[in-house]
Amino acid sequence: MKGEIDLTGSFAEELIPEEVISDIAPVSALEWSTASRILVLPDDVRGLRILDVGAGGSDVTATLLEMGADAYAIDPIYRSKALLKGEVRKENRLAGQEFDHNSDWRRYHRESTDALDRCVTSMKSYPDRYRTATADSLPFPDNYFNIVFSVRCVSLYLDMNSNTLSSAVNESLRVTKEGGFIQLFPWDCNSHRLPSDNDRMALILQIVDANRLRNQLRLINDLNSRGDVEFSIIEASPGSEFLKSLLIHKKPT
Ligand SMILES: C[S@@+](CC[C@H](N)C(=O)[O-])C[C@H]1O[C@@H](n2cnc3c(N)ncnc32)[C@H](O)[C@@H]1O
Repeated sequence: MKGEIDLTGSFAEELIPEEVISDIAPVSALEWSTASRILVLPDDVRGLRILDVGAGGSDVTATLLEMGADAYAIDPIYRSKALLKGEVRKENRLAGQEFDHNSDWRRYHRESTDALDRCVTSMKSYPDRYRTATADSLPFPDNYFNIVFSVRCVSLYLDMNSNTLSSAVNESLRVTKEGGFIQLFPWDCNSHRLPSDNDRMALILQIVDANRLRNQLRLINDLNSRGDVEFSIIEASPGSEFLKSLLIHKKPT
């Protein structure tokens, strides 16, 4: 109706346009012990082809390769190992400020530093497994992976814009085999670890969060209208930082 403000419109997306989203995402390094509690993976991953989208300095791909999986990771930051290390260290320093260098931070710092070391070592041993790419243009053929997952990248950052979210999910579905699945962490949660030390920033974050949740709902609507997928929202294990994740199964034909 004339004169009404359209809160479902592009206002929030003008605050954070598509082209700056990759720059907003910090580069973290998730450690396997945490990832293994939240990822849906079979005990025996030997021979499974698995992709981590927006893997940062995580050691998940390194561990999966050791376990016999045919594992790959993609991230735009892989264009420079020095940049990857520098960005993870910067993220660790910011976490230190947030946690005020208490024992949580010491644990986070240790785990993240170990994960990064293992990631960088694995990159040297298996350079072809770590590809410089973005989620909307994966350098793999159609129907290639049994499992594709993304932790704190497709959701939490790329979902700030409906285009970056839907391109990332459509591209992940393209490279997933029929009968395979995609897992996105975290699902249906508010932003965290972003500065909100003044009212204006707090308001902007609320708008960004409302927009993220709206984009997630839009994606669910899109998935509902597709005949080739089934999805479910699952709870992560207790004690995990991530409460829920979205699982999208690509139906066998
Ligand atoms: C918060 S980190 C998550 C890293 C790792 N998954 C973890 O949980 O520690 C977000 C990652 O997404 C990457 N990224 C940013 N834009 C991206 C894009 N368009 N496609 C894929 N990855 C992207 C960043 O470089 C960064 O490494």
